[in-house]
Amino acid sequence: MRLGVCYYPEHWPRERWALDARAMRALGIGCVRIGEFAWSRLEPEPGRYAWQWLDEAVETLAAADLEIVLGTPTATPPRWLVGAHPEILPRDANGNPRGFGSRRHYCFSSPVYREHCRRIVAQLAQRYGQHPAVVAWQTDNEYGCHDTVLSYSEAAADAFRQWLRERYGDIARLNEAWGTVFWSQEYRDFAEIDPPAGTVTEANPAQRLDFQRYASAAVASFNREQVEILRAASPGRDVLHNFMGFFTGFDHFEVARDLDVATWDSYPLGFLEQRSYAAEQDKACYARTGHPDIAAFHHDLYRGVGRGRWWVMEQQPGPVNWAPYNPAPLPGMVRLWTLEACAHGAEVVSYFRWRQAPFGQEQMHAGLLRADASPDQGAAEVRRAADDLARLDPEPTRPAPVALLFDYTAKWWLDIQPQGADFDYLRLVMEWYGALRERGLDVDIVGTAGDLAPYAALFAPSLPIVEPALAERLTAFEGHLLLGPRSGSRTCDARTPPGLPPGPLQALTSLRVVGVESLRPGSERAVRYAGRDFAMRHWCEQVQCELDPLARFADGGGAYLRHGKVRYLAGWPDAGLLGAVLDEVCAAAGVHTVALPRGLRLRRRGSQVFAFNYGPQPVELPVERGRALLLGERTLPVAGVAVWREA
Ligand code: GAL
Repeated sequence: MRLGVCYYPEHWPRERWALDARAMRALGIGCVRIGEFAWSRLEPEPGRYAWQWLDEAVETLAAADLEIVLGTPTATPPRWLVGAHPEILPRDANGNPRGFGSRRHYCFSSPVYREHCRRIVAQLAQRYGQHPAVVAWQTDNEYGCHDTVLSYSEAAADAFRQWLRERYGDIARLNEAWGTVFWSQEYRDFAEIDPPAGTVTEANPAQRLDFQRYASAAVASFNREQVEILRAASPGRDVLHNFMGFFTGFDHFEVARDLDVATWDSYPLGFLEQRSYAAEQDKACYARTGHPDIAAFHHDLYRGVGRGRWWVMEQQPGPVNWAPYNPAPLPGMVRLWTLEACAHGAEVVSYFRWRQAPFGQEQMHAGLLRADASPDQGAAEVRRAADDLARLDPEPTRPAPVALLFDYTAKWWLDIQPQGADFDYLRLVMEWYGALRERGLDVDIVGTAGDLAPYAALFAPSLPIVEPALAERLTAFEGHLLLGPRSGSRTCDARTPPGLPPGPLQALTSLRVVGVESLRPGSERAVRYAGRDFAMRHWCEQVQCELDPLARFADGGGAYLRHGKVRYLAGWPDAGLLGAVLDEVCAAAGVHTVALPRGLRLRRRGSQVFAFNYGPQPVELPVERGRALLLGERTLPVAGVAVWREA
C-alpha cells in the first residue's frame, strides 16, 4: 500500500513546490492528487488555456519521484462559464437556481455543461495523458456532495422524459406501472410529465423512484463521458473517482462499472458527528477515534464497488471544519486509520490535505502541515504509518467468509415510503454490519450484481425490490441466507406484489407477509427466542406460513423463520435479538465467531490478523499464547494497532 496526499499547487507560491515535494517524500508519501478544483486557473478566459503553471507543478512533483493523480476540474465551473450559460446551474425542488460562489454548481443533465466538461477534460488529457508521472485520473470530485444529484432544471426534466420513453415505450405502460389512475394522475403523453416536485402533498412514489433512477443514470453517464476521453488519450492509467461516505444519492456500483478503481473520502470524526446513527453516548465515547464500524464499513463497501480495487483518496489528518463539533483525533488515530485501510485491502491512503489553507471556506480544516508549513499532528503519524507498512509486507486480501448485500435502490425506496420515522435503511445496514464485526468477522459487501459464490452466509438487511436476475441468483445461492424485513415488498415498478410480500422471494422463504406496522420509540414488541426474551422495535410484520418459527412474538406469530438455508426476520430486531440470530446463522454456516471487547475490531489479510482498538480502555487481544506479534502489544493500548499471524 502506498501513501498519498491532496495538494493544491495553485494555492502556494511556486518557490514552495519543490520544498513541499521533498517534504512529502520525507514523510513516506509517494503519490499526489492535484488539479481537481483548478478550472479558473487552467482556463482563465473562455478558450484561453494557461498550462504553464501546471506544467511546472507536474515537473516539480515528478522530479521528486512522486506519482501524480490528476483531477478533472469539473466540480467547479468558473464564473465566466456560469455567466455565459446560467442554465448549467442546478435547480432546487422549488425551481430556484443554486448559485455561484462555492462548488458543485452544475446540473448533471445540462447538455451545455457536458460539452464544456468534455472540452476541458480532452484538453487536459491531451496535454498530460502521456506524462510518465501521471499514473491516474480522478473524474470530478465527490459526485453528489452538497446534495447535488437531484436537479429540477429544464434540462433534467427533458432528459427524465426521454429516459421514461426508453424505459416504458408507451405511455399506457407508464400509467399502469405508476398506478396513475390513483388521484387522476393519468398522462396522455410523456411530454406531460414533470419531475416530482412542488406537488401539494407527496408525489407519486413510483415517479419519485424513477426520477431517482434517472438521476443516478445521469451521474453515471456524466462520468462515463469523461472516462472515455481519458482512456483514449491516456492509456494505461487508472481512472477513478472519489466517492463519499454515507452517501446514497446514486448507485455507486453503476458509476464504478466504468472505473478502474473506486476511491472514497474518509473523515471518521466528521462522519460520527454529522452522519452516523450512533447513540449520544457512543458519539461521546468515540468522539476522538471515530466509530469502530464507520471507516471499516466504507472500506468494505468500496472494495465491493471497485471490484477489489479501491483507495482512500482523502483521509482526515486532524480536525475537519464541517461537522457540528470538530475534535482533534486522539494521538495515534491517523496512523490507526491508515493501517486499518491497509488491513481492508486499500492500494493507497491519501491524506486531505497537505497544508492547511490560510484562506477560503476550509481555513479551519487541518492539513498534515499547519498554514505556516510547520508539521501538524498528522505529519508525524504519517511517517510512523509509512515505517509500519514497510515492516509489515501485507499478504493478499482473500474473500471474507460472509457477505452483506447492499442495495442503493433499497435506500431510495425506503426513503420514499418509510412508513415509520425510524425506518432508515442505512441505519439498519450499519446495525447488521456492526453486529457481524463485533463477532470478529471479516465482511465483504456485495451489490445486487455481485458474485455470491464465495460466501458461507449472506446477509440482506432489507431488499424491498428484487429484480428477476437477483431472485434467480438468490435461489441458486448455496450458502445460508438471512433476509431482513420488507424484503420483496415491492415489484420493480414499486407496486405491491400480486401475491403480497415477499413477492419473488415467497418460494424461497415459504411465507407471506400479511400485515406490517411501525412502532414509535419506546414501544417495542416482545420476542421469545431460544428461551430468552428480546424485542422488535421500529417495525414488525405479521407472517402467514406453515413453518415452525424459530422465534415468536408474544401473540404466537412468527418473528424469525427458517426454510432450509433461508431465514427471514419479520421485523427490526433489537441488539440482543440481532446478535442471537447472527450467531445462529453463523453456527449453521460453520463460520467461527468470537465476542470482541468493546471498541476492538479485527481484520485479516491472508494469515495476518490486524487488530484496532477504538475503545476507551486498553484491551487484551485474542492471540494464542506463545504467538509472536508482528506489530504492537498483546495488551493493546487505546488507539493501538497490532498484527499477528494466524495459525
Ligand atoms: C471532501 C472534499 C474535499 C474537502 C474535504 C474537507 O468532501 O472532497 O474537497 O472539501 O471534504 O473535509
